[in-house]
Parts: sequence; structure tokens; C-alpha cells
Amino acid sequence: MAGSGAGASPLIVWNEREKRFETEDKKAFIEYQLRKGGKVMDIVHTFVPSSKRGQGLASLLCVSAFNHAKNHSMAVIPTCSYVSDTFLPRNPSWNLVLHMEDLKSCI
Ligand code: COA
Repeated sequence: MAGSGAGASPLIVWNEREKRFETEDKKAFIEYQLRKGGKVMDIVHTFVPSSKRGQGLASLLCVSAFNHAKNHSMAVIPTCSYVSDTFLPRNPSWNLVLHMEDLKSCI
């Protein structure tokens, strides 16, 4: 059963208008820009309020964004340093969804 009891994962909502995936209270979010006619999701920023950091909330936001990209056949550019330096090294299977042209220019 969905709910907000102790230990339940917070629900992440897609806010298409603001190009974000966010918690229901909108306080934590991952923000993207669309590139190449909407075929590429450039993740530009992740934010979690200081009181909620270190519990994997940013990682949960990333999973929502990467799942969305995968399900919509979009490639991801990990501009945000949390995504490139923390999320992807810890979850390398998502490297498959990355935009290869930009990957080369990052190395
Ligand atoms: N870049 C890369 N990794 C970062 C980071 C950053 N700017 N800030 C924190 N991290 C790492 C920490 O090293 C931490 O590692 P630990 O698990 O070994 O302690 C890890 O993120 C925590 O992961 P998680 O719990 O999933 O993240 P979070 O919910 O605490 O949120 C941020 C992480 C970065 C979104 C949050 O600290 C924040 O909003 N910071 C201010 C905005 C910011 O710097 N955004 C990233 C650049 S766009």
C-alpha cells in the first residue's frame, strides 16, 4: 500500500512543465533540459534539502529520471556532478543510457 509511513520511499513525480522529477512537496528535485529535438535529456541539477541529505533521496530522483529516459528512448547527458561523480559510479548499469557523443568529449 502506498503511503508516507516511516521507512516508505517518498513518491517521485514527473513535473513535465518545469522539466523536473520531484518529491510531492517539491522540495527535492532533479532538473533537466531537452536537447536534440527532445531525444536527449541533459540532467543539469539535483537538489535535496539539507535536512534530508545522505538518505539516498538524490539517487531515487536519478532512478526516476533515468527510467523515464530509458522508457522514452532518450539518451542522458550527466551534466550534474552528483549524477556523473556519485550516482553513475555507484550504479554503472545506467551508463548504457548515456549519450555517447558527449561521453567522448568528457573523457
Ligand atoms: N557532487 C557529487 N556527489 C555529491 C555531491 C556533489 N555536489 N554532494 C554530495 N555528493 C555525494 C556525497 O559524497 C554522498 O556520499 P556518501 O553516501 O558517501 O556520503 C552522496 O552524494 C549521498 O547520496 P544521496 O544520499 O543519494 O544524495 P542526497 O540525497 O544527500 O543529495 C545532493 C545529494 C548533491 C543532491 C545534495 O547534497 C544537494 O542538494 N546539494 C546541493 C546542490 C548540489 O550540489 N547539487 C549537485 C550539483 S548539480
